[in-house]
Amino acid sequence: MKTRISLLMAIILVGIAACNNLKNCEVLSPSADLKFSLMDESGTLSYSVQYKDEVIISPSQISFDLDGMPVLEKLKIVNIHMDSYAGSWDMPWGENRVVDEVYNRMIADIEETVEPFRKFSIEVKAFDDGVGFRYLFPEQENLNEVLINEENTAFNFPGDNTAFWIPGDWDIYEHLYTKSKVSEIDAFKYTNLNLAQTYIPNNAVATPVTMITPAGTHISIHEADLTDYSGMTLMLNAAKNGFVSCLVGSENHTYKVKRTTPFETPWRTIQVSEEAGGLIESNLIINLNEPSVIDDTEWIRPMKYIGIWWDMHLNRRTWDYASGNHGATTEYTKELMDFAAEHGFGGVLVEGWNNGWEHWIGFEDREGVFDFVTPYPDYDLSEVVRYGKEKGVELIMHHETSAATETYSKQIDTAFSLMNELGIHSVKTGYVGKILPKGEFHHGQYMVNHYHMVLEKGLEYQVAINAHEPIKATGKRRTYPNAIAREGLRGQEFNAWAEDGGNPPSHLPTVAFARMLAGPIDFTPGIFDMKLNPYRPDNQINTTLAHQLALYVVIYSPIQMAADLIYNYKGHPAFKFIEDVAVDWEKSIVLNGEVGEFVTIARQERDGERWFVGGITNEISRDMEINFDFLPEGKKFRAEIYRDGVDAHWDDNPEEYIIEELDIDSEDILKIHLAEGGGFAIALFPL
Ligand code: NOJ
Ligand code: CA
Repeated sequence: MKTRISLLMAIILVGIAACNNLKNCEVLSPSADLKFSLMDESGTLSYSVQYKDEVIISPSQISFDLDGMPVLEKLKIVNIHMDSYAGSWDMPWGENRVVDEVYNRMIADIEETVEPFRKFSIEVKAFDDGVGFRYLFPEQENLNEVLINEENTAFNFPGDNTAFWIPGDWDIYEHLYTKSKVSEIDAFKYTNLNLAQTYIPNNAVATPVTMITPAGTHISIHEADLTDYSGMTLMLNAAKNGFVSCLVGSENHTYKVKRTTPFETPWRTIQVSEEAGGLIESNLIINLNEPSVIDDTEWIRPMKYIGIWWDMHLNRRTWDYASGNHGATTEYTKELMDFAAEHGFGGVLVEGWNNGWEHWIGFEDREGVFDFVTPYPDYDLSEVVRYGKEKGVELIMHHETSAATETYSKQIDTAFSLMNELGIHSVKTGYVGKILPKGEFHHGQYMVNHYHMVLEKGLEYQVAINAHEPIKATGKRRTYPNAIAREGLRGQEFNAWAEDGGNPPSHLPTVAFARMLAGPIDFTPGIFDMKLNPYRPDNQINTTLAHQLALYVVIYSPIQMAADLIYNYKGHPAFKFIEDVAVDWEKSIVLNGEVGEFVTIARQERDGERWFVGGITNEISRDMEINFDFLPEGKKFRAEIYRDGVDAHWDDNPEEYIIEELDIDSEDILKIHLAEGGGFAIALFPL
């Protein structure tokens, strides 16, 4: 994570920035394609964003509603500071080894024009792939403890964009995306879903929300470095041509955020790209986070893993012991460890190993129930750890908190130090159910701070965190490289039991351009038995098998599960792709894509010369040409291609696939057919 070039240049006003009488101040991105303007019109502050000749955000007001003191909105710009930065940094693990960080910055100091003359600043960073801005509240006489009732950052659009959105649920992101015009957003249509937790109080969407403007430009609004603040949802504004920020609140007080000056808010981000794929390649979100707080990241290992997991979602075994059909036994764990060692998996996840599963989902009184150190009688924790070590396989710990946060906070030191003693370096956490204490929500400031505390504890005890039912990713993995992955979307599990038919084929071609912009996803791909027989006769996976393989490349995570039962992999020719595919990347390139339709990504493995390509489509079959000009010139590769069979179809014939071998170099173009709900995966080995 060294900074390679670190050039903090002093004011270079010419070309990158301008300010007229502190009334209209502009900062341009390094290429000058993006422009952020801050305007002061008789005390009302607003901003706008322009990309080339197109206005992306039309003038949009900025104001804060602070508790006990009137709205902070009679304002003036009193000072402007401009500078530039050009550097790059190494990711300890990621989609790319090197990330360029090049931007122009403007800091505008703002003061209230009426009593009590409160002050804040707006810091703007303009990159070529988007802009970010945040509010800085300095220490000052008339503002010490700040209770924010609402942050009113508007995002107005000149036209009616097409949006890909999920509702601004305060408790969960596990929703299917809707494609609609911004003006037609209706978050309340999601209200009656049968989820363990959900709360949708406003006609708002969650971020990242990805949109296509009438001119065809792709934009996505999100936030970066969400720390000690509430998550932001975006409420449809009254005129229906945009959004206004709406923070997640709490039923325990009227304010939504409580801070003490000095502090800064998270960054409000707008990623912009002509092509849809540019959004996936954008580094804006991670670049707006602070450098890593640790130097030694050796213990954070990207890996593929298997687990005692799908068994429970299939209803084949149970998490709890009392059922008599317990999944997490010493014997079964060892069987998985043997399989992992034989097929090159680094980890085995075991869910349902500890006391408490008899009393979790559906119970109100969940505090004090889960115990994160005491195994069930048929699970010998130290023995499975010892057995795994002998085979070079690490146990992945599981902590389902059932959203009983006080119990988890109380036990976390004991639980993490046990892991540290046993040499376990990662945990999957879970927060199923309504948050305890009552009245708090998964995405409010209380929980943002809880998830942050868990990351900090992880650093203390060398534990990497894969949170389910998490707060959304906002690029904190740069600062906390132990934030390896998270759920925060409708994952594979929904295909096992959802009563609405599971995730449709368009789900992941949408996720790749929306949720994935936030950060790594623990989607858990790789199901081969698509009809889930005999366990779930009414459910199925709504993709082809080749699509499942492609997900290892398309849906980024440094930890990737082979989620199916190991029996479905034994002797299966397509399993070779899962064995081969890398999880840590030198570089990643989006070859094609349209939001919600299809996407193809090529990635080169880190510390190696192999490349992997994955492509997926929605319910529409397609013929594509894959141009291999991303490969090093003059070098030949043996390509192992896994593609949909001629009659493959996500519903009628999901398991038909073809494996082909070809020699390929950078001059080749491959014609490939994707079935309805299909995909393809290619492993390229240097010759
Ligand atoms: C929900 C998680 O998303 C899932 O992966 C896990 O198996 C259950 N909670 C139990 O913790
Ligand atoms: Ca979940």
